[in-house]
Amino acid sequence: MTLLDKFQGLRAARDQLKGLGVDPFNVVVEKILSPTEAIVNGHRVILAGTNNYLGLTFHPECIAAAEKALREEGCGTTGSRMANGNYADHLALEREFAEFYGKPYSVVFSTGYLANLALLSALPGEDDVILLDADCHASIYDGCRMSQAEVIRFRHNDMDDLGKRLRRLKSRAQRTLVVVEGIYSMLGDQAPLKAIAKVKREYGAFLMVDEAHSLGVLGETGRGLAEAEGVDAAVDFIVGTFSKSLGAIGGYCVSPHQELDILRYTARPYIFTASSSPAQIASTRVALRLLRDGNDLRKRLWANAHRFYQGLEALGCQLGPQMSPVVPILLDESREQSLRVWHDLLQRGVYVNLVMPPATPDHRCLLRCSMSAAHTEEQIDVLVETFAAVFSSHRLIPSRCVFCFVSFAPTPVRVPWL
Ligand SMILES: Cc1ncc(COP(=O)(O)O)c(C=O)c1O
Repeated sequence: MTLLDKFQGLRAARDQLKGLGVDPFNVVVEKILSPTEAIVNGHRVILAGTNNYLGLTFHPECIAAAEKALREEGCGTTGSRMANGNYADHLALEREFAEFYGKPYSVVFSTGYLANLALLSALPGEDDVILLDADCHASIYDGCRMSQAEVIRFRHNDMDDLGKRLRRLKSRAQRTLVVVEGIYSMLGDQAPLKAIAKVKREYGAFLMVDEAHSLGVLGETGRGLAEAEGVDAAVDFIVGTFSKSLGAIGGYCVSPHQELDILRYTARPYIFTASSSPAQIASTRVALRLLRDGNDLRKRLWANAHRFYQGLEALGCQLGPQMSPVVPILLDESREQSLRVWHDLLQRGVYVNLVMPPATPDHRCLLRCSMSAAHTEEQIDVLVETFAAVFSSHRLIPSRCVFCFVSFAPTPVRVPWL
C-alpha cells in the first residue's frame, strides 16, 4: 500500500461519473447573470440550488460598497485578525452584529466554516462535553474533531434523547455545550428551539445555535430561529455566515459571554488564517442593514417557498418534513438514476444540488432545492413544470401529475412570525 492507494475507490467513482458524462460536483458556472440565472454548459439555467435567500449578491448598494473598499483598501488584507489583518471595518462589522443581536460580544471570522471550527475547538475543553444534533453540518462535526471535549450525538430533533443524555451527564451537564442549527441545511426543518432552551436551562447547560440558513429567513428582523421562537436570551452562542442571506463570504459569532472575546487569543481558526477582504466586509455591512430592514424580502422569500413547495407537493414529490426555503426532494432511486434525473434537469435549464449518501441524513439521494426572494413567480412555475416533465419521463411520479401544476393555485402565504 502506498500513500495514494486509498484514493483508488474515489478515482473509480469519479471516472464512472465522467463515463456517464455527468459530474454534479464539478459544475462550472460559465457566467453568472443574476442571483437566479447563470450560463452552465453553454445553456441559460435557473439557479434553484444556491443559498442566496434574499438575492443580495447583485444588490447595487452592496456592489458599490465593495467597489469602494476594493479601491481604497485593496484586494486582501494579507494577514490574520491577530496580526495585520484587523482593519477598522472588521471591528465596525462586529459592533453592527452585536447591536443587531443585542448581545455585547461579537467576533467576525473569515468563513462560517471557520467560525464553527473556532468555537468548537476552543470553547469546550478536555473535561467538557459537546452534545450535538446528529444532522448538524460538516463544519460542526469538524469542529468537534478538533476539540478535546467528549463528543456525544443525540437523535435529530429528538427532545427525549437530548433530555436523557443531559440527565445521564449529571453534574457534567453544566460543562456541556448543546449544538443545534436554526434551519437544517439538508432537510430544511427547524430545531424545536423553545423545548431545547427549556431543557438546557433545566440542566444548566450552554447552547450554541448555527443560524447559517435561518439568518435573514426567520424572525421579525431576520435574526433567525431564536428570534422567531422568542428564545434569544437562552442562546449562549449564535454562529452564522455571510455566505447565504448576506451574499458574501465570512462568518461570525455573537454571545452574551465575554469569553467569546477571549477566544481571539486561543482559537486557531481565528488566529492562523487571513482575515476577510475589505470588499467582503464592506458589502456585508450593507447587506446586514438590508437584511434587518428587509421584511419585504423575507415575505417574498416565503411566498416563493410556498409556491414552489406546493407546486412540487401537487406533483407528488417526497419533500422534507417542514415547508421552508430549503426544499429537499427525496429520491428512492439508485445513485445512477438520481444522477440521470439531476442531469436531465440541468439539460432542461434547472440547476439544483444533488446530494448523495453519506452527506444525506437518511441514506437516500436528494435533490436539494432552495428558494430566493429574487426568484420570480414565472421562474418558479418553470421550475415546477421542468420537474414535472423530468420526473414523469423517469417515472418518478404518475404522468397525469404533469398536468397537476397547471391548475395549481397557491394558498395564501403565512409568514411564520406574523
Ligand atoms: C449549517 C452551516 N453552517 C456553516 C456553514 C459554513 O458556512 P461558510 O460557507 O461561511 O463556510 C454552512 C455552509 O454551508 C452551513 O450550511
